[in-house]
Amino acid sequence: MNTLTYWENIYASKNFNEVSWFQSRPTQSIDLINRSGISKKSNIIDIGGGASSLPEELLVLGFERLTVLDISYNAIEKSQNRMGKKSKQVQWIHGDVLETDLPVQFFDLWHDRAAMHFLTSVDDRKVYRSKILASLKPGGFLAIHTFAEDGPDSCSGLQVQRFSIETLTHELGVNFSLVVGQKHSHITPGGMEQRFLACLFQLASTHE
Ligand SMILES: C[S@@+](CC[C@H](N)C(=O)[O-])C[C@H]1O[C@@H](n2cnc3c(N)ncnc32)[C@H](O)[C@@H]1O
Repeated sequence: MNTLTYWENIYASKNFNEVSWFQSRPTQSIDLINRSGISKKSNIIDIGGGASSLPEELLVLGFERLTVLDISYNAIEKSQNRMGKKSKQVQWIHGDVLETDLPVQFFDLWHDRAAMHFLTSVDDRKVYRSKILASLKPGGFLAIHTFAEDGPDSCSGLQVQRFSIETLTHELGVNFSLVVGQKHSHITPGGMEQRFLACLFQLASTHE
């Protein structure tokens, strides 16, 4: 089964609040975005945004320039249905992040909660990193959440790549400097504890 079919099936078979990664409020995401200090006019992209409530929360906080990219049509439809008219204030992109052309040096902040950790091949992570480097503005921010090194080694039946602050920093390379990194527990709707890592990085203002 390819990646698209896999995720379409998951979102077709569960409500948005039944998936293991569901959060009633994306607290850690908001915290990292606030810590970046970006202005309300900043361009923010949420990679693998799924059916998360992050866009609604950011609109309430006054952020106006939001893009959500996800491989799953079903996920995006769930978000749009839940948001109703407000969904028109968000730009939605259906696509595989590894294959989607994004505007160059456009985003002030790239957010990813539990999408990159499905990239278990080194080559895919290199492509992912090159996408971030190309579409973040110099000096822009990367807010990223993965399973921690003591977190689960799979999610929804897919293997994941777990990270520590050190391995994630190493993976991203010299162009990114760590602003803050912390671990926390996510409790799934089924009551299981999952250890997550949430990190904010800043891209150098000049880089290769
Ligand atoms: C574990 S869910 C997290 C969803 C959301 N970020 C949240 O925190 O609620 C992972 C999301 O990444 C999306 N995804 C997985 N691989 C992707 C890819 N290669 N390109 C774009 N989206 C992808 C899935 O469709 C899914 O919505």
